[in-house]
Amino acid sequence: MKICIIGSGYVGLVSGSCFSELGNNVICVDVNKEKINNLNKGLMPIYEPGLEELIKRNYKQGRLKFSFDISSSIKKSDIIFICVGTPINKKTNQANLRYVNNVANIIKNNLNKYKVIVTKSTVPVTTGDKIEKIINIKKNKNKFDVISNPEFLREGEAIRDFFYPDRVVIGTNSKKPNTIMKNLYLPIIKKKSRYFHTSRKSAELIKYASNGFLATKITFINEIANLCEKSNIDIKEIATGMGLDERIGDRFLRAGPGYGGSCFPKDTKALVTTANKFKTNLSIVKSVIKSNESRYKFLIARINKIMSNKLNNKKICFLGVTFKAGTDDMRESPSLKIIPYLIRKGCKVRYYDPSGPKSNFKNNNIKYCPSTKDACVGADLLIVHTEWNEFKQLNFKTLVKKKIFSIFDLRNLYSPLKMKKSSLNYFSIGR
Ligand code: UDX
Ligand code: UDX
Repeated sequence: MKICIIGSGYVGLVSGSCFSELGNNVICVDVNKEKINNLNKGLMPIYEPGLEELIKRNYKQGRLKFSFDISSSIKKSDIIFICVGTPINKKTNQANLRYVNNVANIIKNNLNKYKVIVTKSTVPVTTGDKIEKIINIKKNKNKFDVISNPEFLREGEAIRDFFYPDRVVIGTNSKKPNTIMKNLYLPIIKKKSRYFHTSRKSAELIKYASNGFLATKITFINEIANLCEKSNIDIKEIATGMGLDERIGDRFLRAGPGYGGSCFPKDTKALVTTANKFKTNLSIVKSVIKSNESRYKFLIARINKIMSNKLNNKKICFLGVTFKAGTDDMRESPSLKIIPYLIRKGCKVRYYDPSGPKSNFKNNNIKYCPSTKDACVGADLLIVHTEWNEFKQLNFKTLVKKKIFSIFDLRNLYSPLKMKKSSLNYFSIGR
């Protein structure tokens, strides 16, 4: 099929390249000309394992193209995926739909034949209705259908999540687009992964409700971890014991520094705002937001305790600064709150991140190091901030080359017992 992806970001680029891998002809479009020019030169705008090879292979075979000519790309395509950003408006906590509306207007002017218009970006419930109004369903009757096909891609695992989804959710009340989408997804709908056809508004809400629940699950285990720290219990034992109950499941029960990223923080707030519009109080999601936003204060209190409140001039090394492993995405990363605090307290911060240096930190007391070794040497405190594989078996003594230093493992990568046996000053989460 002929597909146009509008918005070549983390979601658009992965979806577009995966659809081309399935044999479709895909044009990925973006307003950011530099991004498109770089992609045409084979330069990747984001870090996503396996993406570069996928893009290069399909680009070479002519199935995957990059363009900033949105009109002609729409005209050539039968299915238009809207994957532009839906950033949260900090004041109103509403998902900002200006990009989505802007794209809908452009599509309206390029309906040269029947098209399926798909919202893949996470959009508030009833956005599909609004897009329909913009494209003027009366004037352009039978020339288009607007459907919802929310993405459930985790950064760092996005390609796997695309090809092996638990479910593909298609939201539409019309038969024609549903048939087209079922054909499009046929190669990846196996017995295991379900093709779930529902109404457009249900599909829109499934996305928010899923992210809201996952954020709740993570926040729940993080709060239980706080209790474990006070009662000398190991949170990993609790998570294992809980996860063996199939009704709970063992995934998304890893205690850590709190959730970040471009989705959970934004989507939980947008869900609450949508509910408010329908005069419904989502008290649980509200408390999840509050709990997660203040989690960094717990971590800072722990750091002060580990360092006996002596932070001035201390050398602190961060292993990883992004919101999770497997990505270069800094959006809502816990490090964006912890590092500035440490700088204000007079610390010297160094960090190494496998996805490279970050432009977020503009301060001469924060230094990017090109390796774990350079970042760790001489540190007073090592903070394991993300769970990259290369941080899982470090010989801290050889790396730090200092008698006295501490480790604060925010991802519980190491065993407290083993660390004690090697007489390392080791601290972690919920243990
Ligand atoms: C985005 C939304 O943020 C997320 O909520 C949704 O689930 C999927 O789409 P992401 O891909 O991470 O997620 O966004 P981002 O990385 O910001 O990419 C959006 C792309 O759209 C950017 O490359 C931006 O340049 C492009 N864009 C934005 C357009 O092409 N046109 C516009 O009008 C606005
Ligand atoms: C999430 C959803 O998983 C995905 O379905 C949706 O499409 C987009 O948002 P993403 O944000 O990319 O994906 O990563 P995810 O792996 O879900 O992690 C989100 C945050 O939760 C990260 O900060 C991560 O560190 C944290 N997390 C996740 C935990 O702290 N513990 C866990 O057990 C799992």
